[in-house]
Amino acid sequence: MNTVIRTVNIDAPEKEYLREAGEILRKGGLVAFPTETVYGLGGNALDEDAAKKIYGAKGRPSDNPLIVHIQEESELISLVKTIPPKAKKMMEAFWPGPLTMIFEKSDKVPHGTTGGLETVAVRMPNHPVALGMIKSAGVPIAAPSANTSGRPSPTLAQHVEEDLSGKIEMILDGGAVGIGIESTILDMTQETPMILRPGYITKGMIENIIGKVEVDKVVVAKSVAEIDGGNYKPKAPGMKYKHYAPKADLIMFEGQIDRVTDAIKAMAKEKISSGYKVGIIATEETKARYNADMVVSIGTRTSEETIAQGLYKVLRDFDETDVDVILGETFYEDELGCAIMNRLIKAAGYKLVQVG
Ligand code: TXA
Ligand code: MG
Repeated sequence: MNTVIRTVNIDAPEKEYLREAGEILRKGGLVAFPTETVYGLGGNALDEDAAKKIYGAKGRPSDNPLIVHIQEESELISLVKTIPPKAKKMMEAFWPGPLTMIFEKSDKVPHGTTGGLETVAVRMPNHPVALGMIKSAGVPIAAPSANTSGRPSPTLAQHVEEDLSGKIEMILDGGAVGIGIESTILDMTQETPMILRPGYITKGMIENIIGKVEVDKVVVAKSVAEIDGGNYKPKAPGMKYKHYAPKADLIMFEGQIDRVTDAIKAMAKEKISSGYKVGIIATEETKARYNADMVVSIGTRTSEETIAQGLYKVLRDFDETDVDVILGETFYEDELGCAIMNRLIKAAGYKLVQVG
């Protein structure tokens, strides 16, 4: 299949491109598009065959449900059984935005989209291209991140091309995304809502609006032991898959930053003298301290936003090199840092060295 790539102006998306994308989607085809979090791979959420195509293009297990994207609050009513009052408050506060909520699904949503579950994940993205495309399609759009299953989520159209070129009808290229990590997922089907995946909308921000929320233990686990030796079943099925793992062995170092850099330097030296190629994930503040085959700054410690933005690109860039081992710094787990650490620890397969 020839994948058409359209470069769109994100401030005023070209109407003909949105129309073209909408038509592909209505006919059951797939279009990758930018959102404020990461690029999504869109298909008609009400069409089981489109869902099958999405799973096929990504190589994703079909029991891992898709998020349904809408562009107007009124679209939610037909997708869900009820909208709990707390969900209404959350919509008012954060939609459009990087928040996905889980509801009891209506009969309209096929099991092919929800991975067989009786619940459905819904989000209204805050991106003119995404909103314009969904409107043009005239149907809700199921969209997982537009990467091959097991690779880091795409933050550039070029990443989508690397993974999905020839497998989908179209890519809308809206340049680099703003946030860089996937939306926060909040399960609204229980009395005390639960965070199933941390993201830009933090626990504190949510609790300001609706009071106490719980956090699925898989979100904050630092070792396989904490998730019952890997047997724990997270509520978001996708959290169990070993996502984003780079080809090289990734080891993260946690502790006071000067001790962390000393420990990374020592291990880098040891690995290099044993003949390994070593990469280091550093920050603007620390990158000059290291000597290795590849030292990459992921962002600045004074702004967690820059770290979220840089994270997946750095992991992808390492995959293009021949480094054998990547040693990485860690970040505070407050606010956005919680989401960053969740992604990094999973990418490292829980290989975390505590340096005190
Ligand atoms: O930011 C985002 O959310 C991006 C953009 C494209 O919108 N999308 C995204 O989708 O990250 P995906 O498919 O890569 O991740 C969806 C996650 C998976 O972990 C999946 O298991 C979970 O959402 N999920 C979807 N439906 C669910 C449901 N009904 N119950 C629990 N978890 C669900
Ligand atoms: Mg994904």
